[in-house]
Amino acid sequence: MRLQQLPVGGLALATLLLLQHLCPSTRAARILFVFPFDMLSQCKLLTPYLLALHERGHQLTIIHAFDCDTMKQFHSIFVKDRHDTDSDFDAHQWDTVSEWVVLMSIRNFFVKIVLNVLESPEVQQLMHSNVSYDLVVLEPSNTDGLFGLAAHFNAILIGLGTCGSDWTMETFVGYRGSSTFEPVMWTGFNKGITLIERFYNWIRMSEEWMLYWLIFQPAQRAIHEHFFGHLEQSFEEIRQNFSLILLNQHFSFFEARASVPSMVDVGGMHVPKQLPTLPAELEQFIEEAQHGVIVMSLGPEIKSKDLPAEKLRIIVDTFEALPQRIIWKFEGNVRPNVSSSIYMSEWLPQQEIVAHPNCRLLISHGGILSIIEAAYYGKPVLGFPVFFDQFRNLERMQVEGMAQRLDISTLTRLEFETALREMLALPQYRRKALELSQRVRDQPMHPLDVAVFWTEYVWRHQGAPYMRVSTSKVKLFDYYYLDNILGVLSRFGLLIGLVVYVLCKLFKWR
Ligand SMILES: *[C@@H]1O[C@H](CO)[C@@H](O)[C@H](O)[C@H]1NC(C)=O
Ligand SMILES: *[C@@H]1O[C@H](CO)[C@@H](O)[C@H](O)[C@H]1NC(C)=O
Ligand SMILES: *[C@@H]1O[C@H](CO)[C@@H](O)[C@H](O)[C@H]1NC(C)=O
Repeated sequence: MRLQQLPVGGLALATLLLLQHLCPSTRAARILFVFPFDMLSQCKLLTPYLLALHERGHQLTIIHAFDCDTMKQFHSIFVKDRHDTDSDFDAHQWDTVSEWVVLMSIRNFFVKIVLNVLESPEVQQLMHSNVSYDLVVLEPSNTDGLFGLAAHFNAILIGLGTCGSDWTMETFVGYRGSSTFEPVMWTGFNKGITLIERFYNWIRMSEEWMLYWLIFQPAQRAIHEHFFGHLEQSFEEIRQNFSLILLNQHFSFFEARASVPSMVDVGGMHVPKQLPTLPAELEQFIEEAQHGVIVMSLGPEIKSKDLPAEKLRIIVDTFEALPQRIIWKFEGNVRPNVSSSIYMSEWLPQQEIVAHPNCRLLISHGGILSIIEAAYYGKPVLGFPVFFDQFRNLERMQVEGMAQRLDISTLTRLEFETALREMLALPQYRRKALELSQRVRDQPMHPLDVAVFWTEYVWRHQGAPYMRVSTSKVKLFDYYYLDNILGVLSRFGLLIGLVVYVLCKLFKWR
């Protein structure tokens, strides 16, 4: 019985049970969240979603690896980094080692992430207790070894993709769209308009596909077999049994792509419907800035305090030469000496500042949430990408005409100042950003409501299996990309045939 753990008396319990039978839609769902990456963005993305579901009466349990105050309000299990994932994931050293070593360290990183969760004593205790869940919501990116949790708890499986979709996620819902035409991250969102582009995309996708099936997936499968070998369903069946995947993306800023009903865009769901007010001190600092303010907030990968002294000098000198005031997210207490036009703080309400009309520009690492915020509030971005999706996020904004990109490791004063002055002086950056903002905001429902609606929807309809495009395994033909190979071959064949035909005609060969 689902309600057995509620601390209610017999009569109340009976009433609840009765109600539960009379109107199942008002029943509370028991939801287990599994977010195993130690990333601040997961905290920021999840917080409004969790609060909204909690407000609607659902019971939440969260397994998480990031530090986040919101989680303390709920029944949560913090998983320690018992496998020292950082040791594998030192992106700074990747330039000096072979590609194979990089691949292996990425694979090991994901293996450790999954093991951190499954080996956690609290998680093991949860798995061996007799609790059950209605829904399991997890980060589906490279966490295949965790999917068995849903089957273990006899729950409906939902994904929440922090960085948007990729082709592996599409296979989870029985869909294989992204190949030569679909803009996916690894091909730089290249739509494959020309034959050469499509061919290039196909090569990249095939490479991806092989790496996934030959290197990444076997490791995850082994973990699954170890921890979930007792389940009736096979690893393959579980992997392809996602009822819903919510994606932190939207076509208004990340290129349109074909999709299926069980993949739902919720990009922007972390943007509050009502913006909280700024602290008085900051508000005054922003409002008294005659030429506006610039916000600088680099992500967790490049902390300002870790920047080399000469880089800091360049940044400080450039800032002090500008008429704008600067708000700088600066970690730690050892700070450079700066003039009063620069406000430094370790903790900044970044969204509220970016949303302020007097904010002119965001200097950012290009993390997905910051980029969505900049798009939402219509602010140009000067980006210093260092990691994963940050490159494509900024590239997209560049294509939109509202961003510029620089490399922090080779940054010079001239480069930095030129970029800043140009972006502040030329009106087109602001104009493009505002155009994008209008587009992003023009949606029938707030993305958070969309996320909550579909979560409850698949729960109300027992996983909504009718939403799946293909309920069986991905067909062998698709599986091996045979259609693509044939497609490419026939296109080439056609082309060669055409050339030969034209040549024959020209030279009248018989
Ligand atoms: C579930 O576990 C609790 C305590 O661990 C026990 O009292 C209860 O009887 C169990 N319920 C079922 C259905 O096994
Ligand atoms: C797939 O999910 C549905 C709904 O959650 C569930 O009823 C079904 O048993 C699952 N099938 C497999 C093979 O896991
Ligand atoms: C800042 O200025 C103070 C006093 O002028 C000086 O003692 C200190 O070393 C300076 N700090 C830095 C980081 O330059």
